[in-house]
Amino acid sequence: MTAFGTQFSDQFVTAAYRDGAWQPAELKPLEPLSMHPAAHVFHYASTCFEGFKAYRWPDGSVHVFRLPDHVARMQKSAASLHLPVPDADLLTNMVLDIVAANRDDVPELPGALYLRPTLIGTLPNIGAAASPSTEALLYVLTSPVGDYFAGGIRPLKILIDDENARSTRQLGSTKTGGNYAAALGPTLAAKAKYGVDQVLFCPESDVQETGAANFLVIGDNHVLTKPLDSTFLHGITRASTLTLARDLGYEVEERPFSVAELMQSIKDTDAALSGTAASLTPIGEMVYRDETHTVNPGSDYASVMRLRNALSAVHSGEREDIHGWLTRVG
Ligand SMILES: Cc1ncc(COP(=O)(O)O)c(C=O)c1O
Repeated sequence: MTAFGTQFSDQFVTAAYRDGAWQPAELKPLEPLSMHPAAHVFHYASTCFEGFKAYRWPDGSVHVFRLPDHVARMQKSAASLHLPVPDADLLTNMVLDIVAANRDDVPELPGALYLRPTLIGTLPNIGAAASPSTEALLYVLTSPVGDYFAGGIRPLKILIDDENARSTRQLGSTKTGGNYAAALGPTLAAKAKYGVDQVLFCPESDVQETGAANFLVIGDNHVLTKPLDSTFLHGITRASTLTLARDLGYEVEERPFSVAELMQSIKDTDAALSGTAASLTPIGEMVYRDETHTVNPGSDYASVMRLRNALSAVHSGEREDIHGWLTRVG
């Protein structure tokens, strides 16, 4: 299979917002968008998106993971950017319709159909830095993705960065392009200098998240992660992992912690990144102030893998969906 996010289904679904109302959604062949070069999004970054997956069970049925939660997060992102907020029913039905239309593209497990709702401000106005886009386009792309870890799980190497932030206090929990732009420079610099996979942003020593994943310290029966606030993205994989950990009897602590505490805890405890693309991925090494530290030396990452396997078992239908996280398509 091709690289994650580079292959697309033949159809997508769009809905425009104009004259104060959402227009009916249209299912159509995937095609380039035609837009005025003055569109608000190109100048003032009025854009947000979502990322989640539909899974094909061994019996052939197709299930979307935590659809209402992703719709709600998209609505929250749109509202924070003062973009027209998509109605929950409109976006939900667009997702279900496009998954049904592209159903044959949903790969066997551990692959999935990655779903990418996107909302952009289309008002043609280059004098609108301080006013919102009153026109918008919403669309949903689907992209078949393979096993992120084909060839086995490779523990990650990350840089602890206590100088830069990946976002701002007002937009940290908004899934918007500008946050990824802010993380790109520090991440590329860290890759070049230290050969790391990701940067863990810890401004003022507050351990937050990487450019595209949440961060958790995971022990045999204990999970520690930052509590929800406006500085970071409220990951659905993070939330699901914490719920499953509680179900399995783990003690779950959501509280702020410092880099000093983190460096102490990784002496004998695993750590992981969480996100839709790669699920839970163990971290093998952390670079902090030019020194490389092995995370939980000698670990076989069993603590991380136990939670990762529990999550995968919900995706595949092997574990009962007691929280009602899956929406069956068709
Ligand atoms: C900045 C950031 N944090 C965390 C996550 C993880 O979120 P989720 O688990 O909902 O995929 C993502 C992934 O999309 C992300 O881009």
